[in-house]
Amino acid sequence: MTQDTKREKIICRILLLISLTSCVCGTFVVKVTQTSYQAEENDTITLEWMFTTKPDSSSTSLYIFCQLFTDVKSLILYHVHEGVESPESQDGQFAGRVQCDKDALREGRIRLHVSRLRTDDSGLYLCEVKTDYGESSGRCRLNVTAAVDQPKTQKPTVRSQPESGGRISLYVGLTAAAVLTVCAGLYSAYRLCSKHHHRENEVVYEAENIDTAV
Ligand SMILES: *[C@@H]1O[C@H](CO)[C@@H](O)[C@H](O)[C@H]1NC(C)=O
Repeated sequence: MTQDTKREKIICRILLLISLTSCVCGTFVVKVTQTSYQAEENDTITLEWMFTTKPDSSSTSLYIFCQLFTDVKSLILYHVHEGVESPESQDGQFAGRVQCDKDALREGRIRLHVSRLRTDDSGLYLCEVKTDYGESSGRCRLNVTAAVDQPKTQKPTVRSQPESGGRISLYVGLTAAAVLTVCAGLYSAYRLCSKHHHRENEVVYEAENIDTAV
C-alpha cells in the first residue's frame, strides 16, 4: 500500500515535470544573428547566438556547449559548465583564439570572438544552451578562405621587373650620354679643324701679301 502511493507520487512528479518543461521549453529559444559567415585566413570574426534570459534564474544553472562540425571531425570551441567557463574542454585547435564577451553573455548573447582564423575552422558551428527554464540550440556556418597574400613568394619576381626596367633606363641614359659625348667631341673637333683650316688660309693670304709687298 505504501509502495503504491510512493509510485503514484513519483509518476505524478514525472508528469508534472514533463508538462512543466514542455510548457517552458516552448518559450526558450536559441537564435543566431547570422546563419553564415564568410572570412579570410588570419581574420577575426564574432559568431553570435542569442538565448532567452530570465531575470530570476541562477547563473549557476547555465550550461553552454559550442562545437564545430566539419566533414571529418567535431571540436569543442566553447564550454560553460554551471555558469563557469571550462577552458580545459576546449579543443587544441582553438586554444587561445576564442574569447567570449561576458557582459553580452549576461544579456543572453553568446558572442565568441575567434581570432587568427584558419581554413580548417570552416564548418558548422552549433551552440547548445541549457538553463533551468529550458534547453535549445542554434547553428551557423563559417567559411574561411585562404589568404590572398600568397603571392608573397612571387614578390621577388614581381620586384625584379621594375629592377630590369630601371636597368633598361640606365642603359638608355648611358647610351644617350655616350651619343651626346661623341656628338660634342665631333662638333668640337669639326670646329677646331675648320678654325685651323681658316687660320691656315689667313696665313697663306698674309704671306702672299708680304710677297707682293716686297
Ligand atoms: C567559401 O567561399 C568561397 C569564396 O567565396 C566559395 O567559393 C566557396 O564556395 C565557399 N564554400 C562554402 C562551403 O560555402
